[in-house]
Amino acid sequence: MPFLKSMVGRKIVMAVSGLMMALFVVAHLLGNTSIFAGPNGINAYAAKLHELAPVVWAYRLVMIILFALHVYYGIQLTLENQKAKPQVYAVKSSLSATFAGKSMIWTGSIIGFFLIYHLLQFTIQVTNPEISAGRNLDAVGRPDVFHMVVLSFQKSFIAFIYVGAMIALALHLTHGIQSFFQTLGLNNDRTFPVITKSGTLAAVIIFLGYIAIPLIIFIGILKG
Ligand code: HEM
Repeated sequence: MPFLKSMVGRKIVMAVSGLMMALFVVAHLLGNTSIFAGPNGINAYAAKLHELAPVVWAYRLVMIILFALHVYYGIQLTLENQKAKPQVYAVKSSLSATFAGKSMIWTGSIIGFFLIYHLLQFTIQVTNPEISAGRNLDAVGRPDVFHMVVLSFQKSFIAFIYVGAMIALALHLTHGIQSFFQTLGLNNDRTFPVITKSGTLAAVIIFLGYIAIPLIIFIGILKG
């Protein structure tokens, strides 16, 4: 397909798949805040999702395809850029010269490894089977997601992995949001500072939202 052979075409695929995944990240964060309502919050939320299994599986399939495209073209474009990179830059683009911009392949890889761990831990539930929600039901017979999450983040090793991964996610989003507007041609000299600042602000809010859960549990404010 000529569209996918061109640099612009592949960048558009990266931008659109990235946007869809970023929207998932926001939705997932909003869903996760139900943990602050205790077992009746997050266990009811998880039970509802499991009831909607066919919809959830259709959604998962779309997300897996988007994720695969994003990773495939991300690696391909990075390798092509490395090959084509001149030794000395005449003009340094302020967008691609930032730390977040230069480390996209690394922050992306950290998120990928984190996701594998995260799915094994909370979805497939094989990393700590003794606290798995599938095996331990709550008082009304629902999988006890609340205690699985709380008992996990009480372990410093797990809380540490999450905070580290969320730093990578925040850096990836900071550059990803700017890149999205750049690729779709929505960025110009006037909008650049606004887009850069708003993108960074959005990444920081998502970061703070996500790390709040392991931190509040780890320091003992939210207990099992
Ligand atoms: C403090 C941070 C997080 C917590 C507490 C958390 C919690 C959870 C829980 C409990 C589940 C299992 C839901 C269920 O099957 O009932 C889950 C699934 C998932 N999480 Fe997270 N999550 C966090 C961060 C993230 C991040 C940053 C990402 C993406 C970058 C992510 C991506 C996913 C995905 C893809 C699933 C599988 C959804 C599905 O079943 O289709 N999570 N998470």
